[in-house]
Amino acid sequence: MIRPIRPEECPALMSLLGAVGLFGSDELDFLRGLLESHFQGQLGDGHTWLVDADDTGRPVAIAYYAPERLTEGTWNLYLIAVHPDQRRMGRAESLIRHIEGVLAQTGARLLLVETAFDPLLAGAWALYKKCGYTQEARIANFYAAGVDKLIFTKPLSTDP
Ligand SMILES: CC(C)(COP(=O)(O)OP(=O)(O)OC[C@H]1O[C@@H](n2cnc3c(N)ncnc32)[C@H](O)[C@@H]1OP(=O)(O)O)[C@@H](O)C(=O)NCCC(=O)NCCS
Repeated sequence: MIRPIRPEECPALMSLLGAVGLFGSDELDFLRGLLESHFQGQLGDGHTWLVDADDTGRPVAIAYYAPERLTEGTWNLYLIAVHPDQRRMGRAESLIRHIEGVLAQTGARLLLVETAFDPLLAGAWALYKKCGYTQEARIANFYAAGVDKLIFTKPLSTDP
């Protein structure tokens, strides 16, 4: 079931993010700080964290998206991650489709998702492609020397 995150499940969310296997300790600290800011209402309008919970209510997938500042209707899917035990069950695709539906109803035009050009992320690239995203840009050496950034986009409405 897809639903907003709850303050009392912060430890479970951190456990999920740790299990994903993609984030180092600095990144996990950053994400913990973001979650705390979110629960304190400090992230700003539109910043949204969702989980997909299993039958027991345990969060097994997580997504975070927000509006891009100084744009009209452009949003960024900053994070999507699924517990390793729960992958290839359609959870990430369902989260993305859910987010797109919610955003389209509010007049959002464009959804971005950014990743590093790292073979570890090949599954994510395949996911974005399946969901209809196209690679719009590549910034060389963005994350570190030799680690480019890929930006994928998808229009959310028929607006030009
Ligand atoms: C990428 C990730 C979110 C995919 O989650 P998921 O729930 O397994 O994805 P889904 O089951 O919804 O997959 C939907 C489609 O995406 C593609 N896909 C997903 N994972 C894939 C993989 N590892 N290899 C190839 N294709 C993949 C497939 O086309 C899949 O459809 P199919 O199963 O019918 O072939 C998950 O592997 C993950 O959490 N990875 C680590 C975190 C990460 O990379 N996040 C993205 C950057 S923040």
